[in-house]
Amino acid sequence: MKRIMITGACGQIGTELTAKLREIYGQDNVLATDLRRPEEGSRVLEGPFEELDVTDAEKMDRIAEAFKADTIMHMAALLSATAEKNPVFAWNLNMGGLLNALEVARKHNMQFFTPSSIGAFGPNTPKDDTPQTTIQRPTTMYGVNKVSGELLCDYYFHRFGVDTRGVRFPGLISHVKEPGGGTTDYAVEIYFKAVREGKYTSYIDKGTFMDMMFMDDAIDAIIKLMEAPADKLEDRNAFNVTAMSIDPEMVAASIRKEIPDFELDYDVDPVRQAIAESWPNSIDASEAKRQWGFDPKFDLDTMTKEMLSAIREKENK
Ligand code: SER
Repeated sequence: MKRIMITGACGQIGTELTAKLREIYGQDNVLATDLRRPEEGSRVLEGPFEELDVTDAEKMDRIAEAFKADTIMHMAALLSATAEKNPVFAWNLNMGGLLNALEVARKHNMQFFTPSSIGAFGPNTPKDDTPQTTIQRPTTMYGVNKVSGELLCDYYFHRFGVDTRGVRFPGLISHVKEPGGGTTDYAVEIYFKAVREGKYTSYIDKGTFMDMMFMDDAIDAIIKLMEAPADKLEDRNAFNVTAMSIDPEMVAASIRKEIPDFELDYDVDPVRQAIAESWPNSIDASEAKRQWGFDPKFDLDTMTKEMLSAIREKENK
């Protein structure tokens, strides 16, 4: 990776990924793109930026060529809960954008990354210690997009030799840019509400376990996988990665170590609860560890400390 173009650079992952890649590879060697230009003062504007709708294949190609990118990181996507509200739009954006980005990578011989998700699993997938290779019959549009995307990326590798790489992210927890429209978002909101109000009403029920990971570990995983020697990789896409399997009660207990009177109650949203229940409780990340040294640093308590102190600083509390 020397010249990197990112789509969805203003999203939850893209914002931090752009900053980290610029730190490592040089400010001018990382081109951020997103549907809309962010507000002045956004860190994404500290280096090159272009407005790009990922369904515009011609513009994506033109921008990549002009920038002389050797790598494309395709992060633009609609998350699970939003995708359920408008499934046809989700299909067109998630699949259309991915196909366009893969075509750009094929034409210009670029290395390629895009994230899949725990959403690529479904209700008849084994729930605990879910293996990387297993039954995938997701029941959400987002999940259907993610499985199709995994297959498409493998196809571009086998059929055209494009150096595609990808992971299945769990819920990602971060304080720089809040996520939007995901099922795992509660695990971010809970920290913001803990600092702002000392209490949180969860739309995900107690006892509902999902995999999660702190954003710093997610960004490190992307870079590690992209820099891994190709001959070490037996798989290319759809690596399970995770740092913890947690439910709302566990997050609350961890927050109470810092904010003892933190209160948690529930007002369960049936749509997002059903999505959560269709996903695994805990996935097995051993292949990522074995093949390219995936090694997350944050557990629940260290992440909680980091989240609370960063949010307090941001909000002057
Ligand atoms: N965080 C995502 C979501 O909840 C899962 O990939 O939609």
